Amino acid sequence: MPTLAANRRAASNLTDHSRPAPVRPFLKWAGGKRQLLSQLARFQPAHFGAYCEPFLGSGALFFDLHSRGVLEDRRVVLMDNNADLIGSFLSVRNELPRVIRSLRRLAEAHQLDPSGCYYRVRDQRFNPARRYLSEHDGPAGPGARKSERYTPALAAMLIYLNHTGFNGLFRLNASGGFNVPAGRYVNPRICDANNLRAVSTALSRPGVEVRENRFESVCEWAMPGDFLYFDPPYAPTSATSSFTAYTPGGFSSDDQRRLQQIVVELARRGCHVLLSNSTAPEVTALYADNVVARAAGLRAHRVTARRAINSRGAARGLVDEYLISNISPATD
Ligand SMILES: C[S@@+](CC[C@H](N)C(=O)[O-])C[C@H]1O[C@@H](n2cnc3c(N)ncnc32)[C@H](O)[C@@H]1O
Repeated sequence: MPTLAANRRAASNLTDHSRPAPVRPFLKWAGGKRQLLSQLARFQPAHFGAYCEPFLGSGALFFDLHSRGVLEDRRVVLMDNNADLIGSFLSVRNELPRVIRSLRRLAEAHQLDPSGCYYRVRDQRFNPARRYLSEHDGPAGPGARKSERYTPALAAMLIYLNHTGFNGLFRLNASGGFNVPAGRYVNPRICDANNLRAVSTALSRPGVEVRENRFESVCEWAMPGDFLYFDPPYAPTSATSSFTAYTPGGFSSDDQRRLQQIVVELARRGCHVLLSNSTAPEVTALYADNVVARAAGLRAHRVTARRAINSRGAARGLVDEYLISNISPATD
């Protein structure tokens, strides 16, 4: 009988000619999971149905699974409630040549006057165009989501600001304006057309759905055997450590509790669930020390990740985090 580890290796090691081209996230994102990919891979189920990421961000795990050929022929549902993020994913999928054309123009303008270009794009083009989108309905009427009306020009500006702004942050002020200051990069890579083409191909595969939605909506369709990876904004480990401003409203303790209820419900339903979070006391109480979560088969595993450890993002250190799952991790 093949061991669990051998099954997992078989699932992740398809022959080279059947593998898609390797793809990297096209956005930098706070809390992005590139440093944790080898730990996350230990929880990949040997067999599963659909794959879903309800807190997509830059989609580090999705792109890793896709590049390893693990998602071939599966339904994949990628969700986030940040309309700009999902709008840029949809534009890269649906209108890539126009995104690349706009991005190349922005890269040229940036070379001539980096800081001036950044603030002109942010304040005179990006924020006014986002405001217009919020205040006006598109041709599909008032029901159409903002992400579905995102334009290739907006997506190019978001990618440009993400690659040249401070730490790649996406932060909004109280009135919904993007207010991240310029970063200090000597030669930022603004338009990586080859990777964008590979991203567009990955997102265009039949079965891949990209949606602007809140995480709760997974309960409406997730089936036994599906694999769901939840990577919410982390619960703060101290009063100053929190960064949850990806979307207005942040991510409160009530949201963390609601998420725990959903993860427990999906584990009981027979889904494979994997969740990352900080080791804040509230997370320990919701999962590691929680009889309901344990009865649903969930276990909290401590792992170490290399993270920014001060607010300027310059210093990095090893930080303990939780991976919480009803899947037993592979040991090799
Ligand atoms: C830690 S980031 C995910 C990072 C991602 N795993 C990566 O590799 O880049 C959390 C994401 O959750 C999204 N988010 C916050 N509140 C949400 C909600 N209520 N429903 C869905 N997504 C939400 C944020 O917009 C953000 O992109």
